[in-house]
Amino acid sequence: MVPNYWYAIIESSKIRHKPVGIKRMDTDLVLWRDANRKVICMVNRCPHRGAALSLGRVRDSCIECPYHGFQYNTEGQCTLIPCNGKNAKIPSGLEVKTFSVREARGFIWIWWGEERSGGACQSSWALLPELPKFEQLPTNLAHTAESSQVWNVNYARIMESNFDVHHLPFVHRSVTPGVGTLIDPYQVEVQGDVISTWGQLRQDNGKSAEESPGWFFRITGIFPQLTLIELSPKVRLLVVVTPIDEDNSWVAIRYYQDYVKVPLLGRLVAWLILMVEFKVFQERQDLPVLRSLKPKYAKLRANKFVAADGGSAQYLKRYEQLMGQVIEQKRKAENIPAGKENSFLV
Ligand code: FES
Ligand SMILES: [Fe+2]
Repeated sequence: MVPNYWYAIIESSKIRHKPVGIKRMDTDLVLWRDANRKVICMVNRCPHRGAALSLGRVRDSCIECPYHGFQYNTEGQCTLIPCNGKNAKIPSGLEVKTFSVREARGFIWIWWGEERSGGACQSSWALLPELPKFEQLPTNLAHTAESSQVWNVNYARIMESNFDVHHLPFVHRSVTPGVGTLIDPYQVEVQGDVISTWGQLRQDNGKSAEESPGWFFRITGIFPQLTLIELSPKVRLLVVVTPIDEDNSWVAIRYYQDYVKVPLLGRLVAWLILMVEFKVFQERQDLPVLRSLKPKYAKLRANKFVAADGGSAQYLKRYEQLMGQVIEQKRKAENIPAGKENSFLV
């Protein structure tokens, strides 16, 4: 998992007052809201004897462990050990790791990486980068619909697949009759973490794109976990892929539609598109193929990419470059001889 990025980990609407336990980034997390409705995210493990804090409750802006009632504040510091008494001194080291959190655009985001100063406190915020976002998406979510699922597929494998357009007339042929198989023209542009691809999927009939245009597409990725797929000028989908662990991913999809802009009706139209696209296209058609991919983990060299895979190749290039740095740092820190590291990348 690539560190030093913001990751959207769950929909905002799923975090209310009661603590919620989820697994992301190969780590068990607990999320809850303090008295000011601010979202707190911590490791879901009480340091006393290891109980899941998500089974506890929130009391006075602290989370209370379900087992023996130890309380931890929003910074993860233990503030109460009931069996020692209210006035007893709290031993040092009794704390839970917390993450810097932001809540924006319908998602809860955590900073996964080196803290740039004092934990989750406000002062560190200024030092962290802005949340990634697609400028072209509206902030108003009134005509959108979203859903999320857990897929038992490696997250980088899903991300590389998000740039793939030429699977459409094969994997989705039952719902896309008459769609051509030729990708022409096709462009890929990389600017830092942003990978933009656009072109046409059209009939292979010997004619030029001007004479015989097809379906215009634009797919933009923001490394490491966001993809914007523009299906038409009026239908766009935002795909968020977050690692749960190396084998499982949380996939959230939000549809933006511009056909109907009346709030309730607009949401209904977006929901209908979501039902067809996410439930039929993706769940029934894409997922079985994605599960069959070998190797299970993303690896640039394991593919024989063609020109139309340019976006996938660029994603994997960046992924391997950054993961390579992580593995090298780990190797040095643990004194492992070069070439002996146990990694899915090598
Ligand atoms: S395990 Fe949490 S208070 Fe004992
Ligand atoms: Fe697909």
